Amino acid sequence: MKEFKRTLITTALPYANGPVHIGHLAGVYVPADIYARYLRLKGEEVLLIGGSDEHGVPITIKARKEGVTPQDIVDRYHTIIKDSFEEFGISFDVYGRTSSKTHSRTASDFFRRLYDKGEFVEKTSMQLYDEEAGQFLADRYVTGKCPHCGAEGAYGDQCEACGTSLNATDLIDPRSAITGSVPVMRETTHFYLPLDKWQTRLEKWILEEHKEWKPNVYGQCKSWLDLGLQPRAVSRDLDWGIPVPVEGADGKVLYVWFDAPIGYISNTIDLVGDDYEKWWKDQDTRMIHFIGKDNIVFHCIVFPAMLMADGSFNLPDNVPANEFLNLEDDKISTSRNWAVWLHEYLRDFPGKQDVLRYVLTANAPETKDNNFTWKDFQARNNNELVAILGNFVNRAMVLDHKYFAGKVPSCSQLGEMDLAVMEEVSGACAAASDELDHFKFREALRQAMNVARAGNKYLADTEPWKLWKTDPERVGTILNVALQICANLAVLFEPFTPFMSADLCRMLGLGKISWNMLGHFDLLAEGAEVAEPHLLFDKIEDAPVEAQVKRLLDTRTANELAGWSPEPLKEECSFEDFEKVDIRVGKVLSCEKVKKSKKLLQFLIDDGMEKRTILSGIAQSYEDPSVLVGKEVCFVANFAPRKMMGIESQGMIMSAVNPDGTLTVISPSAEVKPGAQVG
Ligand code: 2FM
Ligand code: ZN
Repeated sequence: MKEFKRTLITTALPYANGPVHIGHLAGVYVPADIYARYLRLKGEEVLLIGGSDEHGVPITIKARKEGVTPQDIVDRYHTIIKDSFEEFGISFDVYGRTSSKTHSRTASDFFRRLYDKGEFVEKTSMQLYDEEAGQFLADRYVTGKCPHCGAEGAYGDQCEACGTSLNATDLIDPRSAITGSVPVMRETTHFYLPLDKWQTRLEKWILEEHKEWKPNVYGQCKSWLDLGLQPRAVSRDLDWGIPVPVEGADGKVLYVWFDAPIGYISNTIDLVGDDYEKWWKDQDTRMIHFIGKDNIVFHCIVFPAMLMADGSFNLPDNVPANEFLNLEDDKISTSRNWAVWLHEYLRDFPGKQDVLRYVLTANAPETKDNNFTWKDFQARNNNELVAILGNFVNRAMVLDHKYFAGKVPSCSQLGEMDLAVMEEVSGACAAASDELDHFKFREALRQAMNVARAGNKYLADTEPWKLWKTDPERVGTILNVALQICANLAVLFEPFTPFMSADLCRMLGLGKISWNMLGHFDLLAEGAEVAEPHLLFDKIEDAPVEAQVKRLLDTRTANELAGWSPEPLKEECSFEDFEKVDIRVGKVLSCEKVKKSKKLLQFLIDDGMEKRTILSGIAQSYEDPSVLVGKEVCFVANFAPRKMMGIESQGMIMSAVNPDGTLTVISPSAEVKPGAQVG
């Protein structure tokens, strides 16, 4: 395998049209940060590049909705997103934005170079146009029925129901997202990147030379390549974006997916100026793109084709894309507010950034979609971070303070158990490195936790507290080994939980750390002082976790209500028809569940003349039917008697159907005489 001198790590630029959530963190930013921190600890030259994607239709749609400019929107969210990443310790060397001057110039120059080399084809075609708004309907400006799966509400660039990429003109019954009107077809000319021209080179590069890519990434590339690549339009008729730098292309901007990946280049330029060539063009630099699975085609096919067309840039060496993270068994959705937003997490769990980083890594969607649940979050914190890692470190340090006044004791003769744990720790550290080299962060973290597990077992097996009176020297050796394991943990966990690692380094008095300290057991000098210990992690109680679950349940209810619309009206009915139905008010004398029936309640009603029994299928809506006793209800009094579960029902209680399917009985708004007619 080729040796490289340095690594350029890029992370997908999130759209600056909303805050970021746990799906972003789990899929892209935490793994990229772990990798960057790991390489830095190894002493490698590395850059971690991030930034906001500030062009594209979703941003202009949001601006329109709020009556502000797209620049207002991106200014707002760029700051929120950048702050969230910073708080979570994502160690970007630069976090830029695609509305910057550097980016506009870099992307514009890139396009112009390709244009001058004749790398684009210009094609005139009929596109959807909104006559009312006076503009073409690119991408998400048009919605309609998906031609593949038939789902309503598919966008002009993608159907979210089946994931298929679409052209706006493919949609059935298209509607403008701006005015709701039916668009017309109008002619327009665009610049296309002929991906078909790069098909053979891409095939060789990916399918033959990058067989080591993750199966999900390799598989997706192969299906695109097998289908045969088509030319892709790289310009749009929009007023938000980077103007196409070609004479006569007025009103046209670069397609957001053309300029966004160039953002990686412009952000590098913002950071290192002309030195950017070392990072982008030197054969000794390798580039790794961290992205989510929805971005695979752009990073493995479209952007590489752009880079090939230019000819002077390196291609990515690997694209370890992740699958998606679901939340409580449901797809994360911005529009349905089904998400854990990072800024809200920080508000609700202050100081617990490492806990989320840990849980998202332990449960990362590396090979398949995965699920985040608040119960699992709590369990991993309490049973792993607190009970294994925090507990081991605390025991070792408390014992050291008890017996050696906080000084690192001397290590004399090493016994079998000491050597065994040292070997186990070294083995787990080496295994973690190997997993990190292969972008297997979950497994790497599991290995790291095994070190803490081994430490706990070591203390339990050696029982230093029982030896103090008889063999204090042996206790010193054990605690020396235990503290050296703590020092290994401080290094090993740095990429995963950097805040904890810094805290532990401070407690142990460890200065600058590096990856090659792992597997060594002389990291703390004999006689050195360790600080008074405090707990690295606190238990998370039920209440805050239940509050999060409740918030999600409330969101689900609100979504159901928002999506609810009344049943269409039944066909017209005449007064004569209506008059046939005799609706009365009755007083509920008793109400109880019918035995062996899930649905039925048995009412005894005072109808003003006599008592009558009515059965009603509303038991599931009234957990405690006695709440209805004494109430007045409306019922159909001349309904033909019916027998159910062996009981005759003499009428029908009237109820309203709620959006969630539950039923509420109808009562008069003030007390009336039982038997009163309703009409
Ligand atoms: O899917 C997205 O959120 C895009 N904004 C990612 C862009 S990645 C890169 F090309 F900038
Ligand atoms: Zn579809």
